Amino acid sequence: MSTDKIYVFDTTLRDGEQVPGCQLNTIEKIEVALALEELGVDIIEAGFPISSPGDFKSVVEICKAVTRPTICALTRSRREDIECAAQALQYANVGRIHTGIGSSDIHIINKLRTTREQVLEQAAWATKFARNLVGDVEFFCEDAGRADLSFLAKMVETVIANGATVVNIPDTTGYCLPDEYGKRIKYLFDNVPNIDKAIISVHCHNDLGMATANTVAGLKNGARQMEVTVNGIGERAGNTSLEEVAMVLKSHSATLNLHTDINIKKIYPTSRLITRLMRMPVQPNKAIVGRNAFAHSSGIHQDGMLKNRENYEIINPHDVGIPESLIVLTARSGRAALNYRLEKIGLKLSKEELNEVYIKFLELADQRKEIYDEDLLEMMGLSNEGKFYEVESVKVECGDGGSHAIVKLKKNGEIKIGESKGNGPVDATIKAVKSIVGQLCHLEEFLVQAVTGGSDDLGKVHIQVSNKGAFYYGFGADTDIVIATAKAYVDAINKL
Ligand code: KIV
Ligand code: ZN
Repeated sequence: MSTDKIYVFDTTLRDGEQVPGCQLNTIEKIEVALALEELGVDIIEAGFPISSPGDFKSVVEICKAVTRPTICALTRSRREDIECAAQALQYANVGRIHTGIGSSDIHIINKLRTTREQVLEQAAWATKFARNLVGDVEFFCEDAGRADLSFLAKMVETVIANGATVVNIPDTTGYCLPDEYGKRIKYLFDNVPNIDKAIISVHCHNDLGMATANTVAGLKNGARQMEVTVNGIGERAGNTSLEEVAMVLKSHSATLNLHTDINIKKIYPTSRLITRLMRMPVQPNKAIVGRNAFAHSSGIHQDGMLKNRENYEIINPHDVGIPESLIVLTARSGRAALNYRLEKIGLKLSKEELNEVYIKFLELADQRKEIYDEDLLEMMGLSNEGKFYEVESVKVECGDGGSHAIVKLKKNGEIKIGESKGNGPVDATIKAVKSIVGQLCHLEEFLVQAVTGGSDDLGKVHIQVSNKGAFYYGFGADTDIVIATAKAYVDAINKL
């Protein structure tokens, strides 16, 4: 069965990078663009060149660094924006200008303070002007999700007649319901006479949590390009997640008959890269790439998982580049999960032994919430000493001139002392730990959470480290977040 290709237009570096705190420098943007190329995206929206000299330079450098994907630059429908974008794209193998204007009456009246007629004129002019500068022009009808349908159809017809190769129908405010957004796309296919001369693109925001559903609805109704970001980062509640739609199309390929050229094995490594560079943690329960997306914690699920992964997983984590599913031990876990985790640390028990140990396990799990390998060893009466590092003490001085940490770790009954300076208490502490244990791994993610929000609160630190392509989690909790950090880092090191 032949399936239609969906072009993947990645806007992590434009709609994603606009998010406060997610700004990248040019070197980091190039690193992201190269990762997106490896991931298999077709178009990279590299920036908004007129917005700043830094953005202009980044678009230029990305054009030079990237070979296969089309490089796209955003503009308003203004002469200076379009000329600037064309100049920034001069080194691209294939460059695209993405220009556009508001299409809803809300935007036309309240934002542009003009009329539908003038907007159409401007749209026609901008498309034609851009087409004279580059061969590939995408036009966005901003706020198309709330636009009057017959006016939207007129706008799409006009820009195609003036040379648009792609027309973007954004649900800018994330307002549409999936069936309504799908109907909008269908309406355009039924009412725009020249629609076969361009690709229709879907660009959805997640204000009501429906960006993925809306994107899929648009594709089902004829759109052949989707605009997405890695981890769904983007304005306000974010954009459609690349990984979610790529996996929807893959998981439902038999019914949807659509495919992308995304190399799905690269999904998780790319997600980690974006998290690290943009300092934007992924929510633990995020589909596909969240820490818990392949973690099983209830006894019934764990038992089913251990009998056959497919009982509770519709995606094999290996397929998206995640090392393994996790069986998390809590008081809800059953004997099967406990046995699995004991076997993983080399302990094989008879049925009777397991029954006995399970009672002890439940008592411990009720106290500790989650049970780690060290807890299992302790429970089994096997000393950790000689095998694992333990945090004995952490002392940090911090202030304007930077931080200084002294960390004591215990291993094999012996106390080892490490000390280091750092650009803050956390940095100094991790460096002090490294001065004892060596550079065993790369820090991938560092997440601090307060449990209730008060200043006397317990701080929880989740750390992820990588070593030779494998990822390990570490967890630490303390009323002092620096001590929690040391505990989390040491926990991750112990798992290597
Ligand atoms: O959401 C939106 O409408 C946009 C356009 C600039 C394409 O990001
Ligand atoms: Zn957007």
